[in-house]
Amino acid sequence: MKEHTLKKNILVIYHSQGGTMKRMAESFARGAAKEPNITVVFKKAAEASLEDLLACRAIAIGSPEYFGTMAGMIKDFFDRTYEAAKDKTTGLPFIVFVCAGNDGRGAITQIERIAAGYKWKQVQEHLRVAGPPTAQDLAAVEELGQTLAAGVDFGIF
Ligand SMILES: Cc1cc2nc3c(=O)[nH]c(=O)nc-3n(C[C@H](O)[C@H](O)[C@H](O)COP(=O)(O)O)c2cc1C
Repeated sequence: MKEHTLKKNILVIYHSQGGTMKRMAESFARGAAKEPNITVVFKKAAEASLEDLLACRAIAIGSPEYFGTMAGMIKDFFDRTYEAAKDKTTGLPFIVFVCAGNDGRGAITQIERIAAGYKWKQVQEHLRVAGPPTAQDLAAVEELGQTLAAGVDFGIF
């Protein structure tokens, strides 16, 4: 078997209108890519497919909070994949990271409800950044990415 076929995919999907979540998601992906046996599939939610979801060993979802909930394009990804994926991704490790002007809890709660519908498994505490992310916040997101990847690689999650 070729080496690349042994690698495990982590799917990182995000949406960003103003660029803040893009920076956070890039930090997350950079952290996850530090683990040698992991392939990071990094996509805007609008461009992520059912096949991406079915091929991953874990999913990370990065959303800004818009109007008290997740970005519409994150919801769109769930709308497009739920029926076909719900019986095939049971127990999938998932993690959520959110940016917001001053709150972000609504987005996390709503994503958690949808993840419960898929029967995904939360493996780390979700991360919420309210206000412009500091260097420390970005480092924390990067560390979260590496933690998820290490857990997947070692078979802990
Ligand atoms: C249409 C819109 C609605 C928003 N609603 C909320 C909200 O309900 N709660 C909050 O804390 N921030 C809210 N914000 C602020 C954004 O969550 C925040 O600026 C975030 O960092 C934007 O991420 P982005 O730059 O990746 O798009 C809103 C921003 C926009 C553009």
